[in-house]
Amino acid sequence: MTCNPNQMPGPNMTMNSHVEEFSAQTQDQSEWSLSGWAFVPGEVICSAHAELDGKPLAPVSWGWPRPAVQEDFPEQSAAKYAGFRSYLCLPAGLEAGAHQLELVFLDEDGRELGRIRQAFATSNPVVKKPVRDSRPDIDRNHPQAAYLDLLEKTLTGLPYAQAEDYRFRQDGRDWPQQAHSMAGMERLRHLRACVETLVRENIPGDLIETGVWRGGACILMRGVLRALGDPSRTVWVADSFAGLPPPDAGKYPADAGDRLHAFQELAVSMEQVRNNFQRYDLLDGQVRFLKGFFADTLPTAPIGRLSLLRLDGDMYESTIDAVTALYPKLSSGGFCIVDDYGAVPACRLAINDYRRAHGIEEPISMIDWTGAWWRKE
Ligand SMILES: C[S@@+](CC[C@H](N)C(=O)[O-])C[C@H]1O[C@@H](n2cnc3c(N)ncnc32)[C@H](O)[C@@H]1O
Repeated sequence: MTCNPNQMPGPNMTMNSHVEEFSAQTQDQSEWSLSGWAFVPGEVICSAHAELDGKPLAPVSWGWPRPAVQEDFPEQSAAKYAGFRSYLCLPAGLEAGAHQLELVFLDEDGRELGRIRQAFATSNPVVKKPVRDSRPDIDRNHPQAAYLDLLEKTLTGLPYAQAEDYRFRQDGRDWPQQAHSMAGMERLRHLRACVETLVRENIPGDLIETGVWRGGACILMRGVLRALGDPSRTVWVADSFAGLPPPDAGKYPADAGDRLHAFQELAVSMEQVRNNFQRYDLLDGQVRFLKGFFADTLPTAPIGRLSLLRLDGDMYESTIDAVTALYPKLSSGGFCIVDDYGAVPACRLAINDYRRAHGIEEPISMIDWTGAWWRKE
């Protein structure tokens, strides 16, 4: 692997940047991680995407605050800044050799604010196994399609989001005040498509989310089953209903320093989640709750087979505990979805470790700037 960080100002000369990390994440060099800081004087970055050799590649996560940024980069003190963190899957068929990656930052009108250019080289062509099926899709002609459109949108909180929060809600980048899911439109639409696809293709098994917060993603899963008239599958709702565990850095070094357990906003009681289901008329015998930390509840949960596994526990520990207990139960053709793969390095590491340890070769695809998924062969 060779990697030559080579930053240049963007075409309009407005952007300065500091690339902290750029490295291949897999031995075959098909997946790369890139993170750092973009500085834009007087402008607010509203979206970012990556281009590879001049062609669109993927959305880029951005917007992390960093308390010490002004001290670390005093010469940039007048500039607005955004942290970016991007997990990039190179396309199958890409030849070995020199490539150019560009991160393109846009304002809210889609006007380009600047680019960060990064030259790099790969020593292998990107070869990927075909996925069992192409990207899952929704049935637009289904008589319940309009109900599901509205359900998705309502769960994101978009209909009542304040104007200044609208874009964050659309992309699912914030912890919303009212919405029942943190996920944005892309991830909820993709989740609906997975549920529709597994019902259509008769993939056996229940559905589960590990890390539900206010329950929105599970409410959507139950709503799709209801709309499609599936009477047999259970939606399992797994959470401590009391927030995240404190990090156990001795056992899981990747979680060292994690502060998420300190946020009361992440502790939503089971009663509250049940109430949320009720508000959509979706609480019934096809919804079952698993209360407690995953390490205690999941290994012995009375779950047979699964057709969909949605992991949203943020930490290394929460991700590895859930995938270890549940992935063996996922049917062939079932979907594994990882909400924080792009946004949380510890979560990504847990998934990469698990996949490597278990020889999972189905390719991971990104849903949006953070969500990822694959389909079990
Ligand atoms: C980011 S929130 C989930 C967001 C949710 N999926 C949505 O669509 O809005 C993370 C949730 O995971 C739960 N959680 C994280 N780690 C856990 C663990 N080890 N055991 C049980 N619950 C956990 C937290 O209580 C919290 O509700």
